[in-house]
Amino acid sequence: MKKNIAVLKGDGIGPEVTDQALKALKAIEEVYGHEFTYTEALIGAIAIDVTGNPFPEETFKTCQASDAILFGAIGHPKYDNDPNAPVRPEQGLLAMRKSLGLFANIRPINTYKILANSSPLRADLVDGVDFVVFRELTGGIYFGQKGRSEDRNIAFDNCSYSKEEITRISKLAFEAAQKRNKRVTLVDKANVLATSRLWREVVKEFAKNYPDVTLDFMFVDNAAMKIIQNPKFFDVVLTENMFGDILTDEASVITGSLGMLPSASVGSKTALYEPIHGSYPEAAGKNIANPNGAILSAAMLLETSFGLSEEASLIRKAVEECLNQGIVTSDIQKDSKFTTTQIGDKVAELIKTKKKELLA
Ligand code: IPM
Ligand code: MN
Repeated sequence: MKKNIAVLKGDGIGPEVTDQALKALKAIEEVYGHEFTYTEALIGAIAIDVTGNPFPEETFKTCQASDAILFGAIGHPKYDNDPNAPVRPEQGLLAMRKSLGLFANIRPINTYKILANSSPLRADLVDGVDFVVFRELTGGIYFGQKGRSEDRNIAFDNCSYSKEEITRISKLAFEAAQKRNKRVTLVDKANVLATSRLWREVVKEFAKNYPDVTLDFMFVDNAAMKIIQNPKFFDVVLTENMFGDILTDEASVITGSLGMLPSASVGSKTALYEPIHGSYPEAAGKNIANPNGAILSAAMLLETSFGLSEEASLIRKAVEECLNQGIVTSDIQKDSKFTTTQIGDKVAELIKTKKKELLA
């Protein structure tokens, strides 16, 4: 198979973790005889430094011309404490999501036996957790009108949703549920917010197309508690932009490390794959960041955008084997000395040399 992949390494640890994901993809090319072409482009703080724009036109064109996008991380501390910064790296990510029509962010949460004691939650609570969050990504409060009053004493962020925006992500969530345990939980704040009441109305109606899927509703405050108290309750979580942002960081605690989790952002055409962690500037350049979220994002890319399920599965098994061998970064085992590049090399080596055993 021949495919073009746009590679947006971004800021902080983005470049070093993305490099490990590329090693896994190159190993897959070698083992299966695929030909992937990688085109790098700028995004985030680094793009601001070079071009003044966190999502330059050229990057947009590279993304549009590609079959999938592999993305690292965005954000730089020099912008975090400057409320008056004229442009921010995060705007690049939001602009990319919007301009590429990436309206659904898919974040699977699962656990690994070997990491059962890495989670601050009791092992019996987290063992076997397996759910996926469908977070709406191009609407809601993130994209509503925002501003300040003339005297600058009042600020506002408008939250709005349309029936169409709710329906298109619902379709993806219900289709996913059909292939899983057939349960969708809509998380909202319908006791307070008009947008949430629209979500309930639309999703309830839409669910009639999927009689084999059970739909339930949960207020977001309650969901935040349930995710910790009884995470096995969930199968497919469907929610709006900001609730999904918050709940998925919370849910990462179940797995034991934010560094383990991949995500996909899908929509109209080219999809984007990225680890859910941020740019982690304190670790940048130190070769200590966990690259597994990025490597597993490459697996999601192969499966979701290219339909290469076996290849994706081989990457996942290689990551798991690496964990089982205790080859982990210090976010997982405090005194571990393994580096980002060592993990990347090990995963690539396992892919190249242990396909039969890993897939057996
Ligand atoms: C995420 C991030 C982004 C978001 C930031 C960097 C804009 O937290 O992808 O979850 O809030 O969507
Ligand atoms: Mn987030």
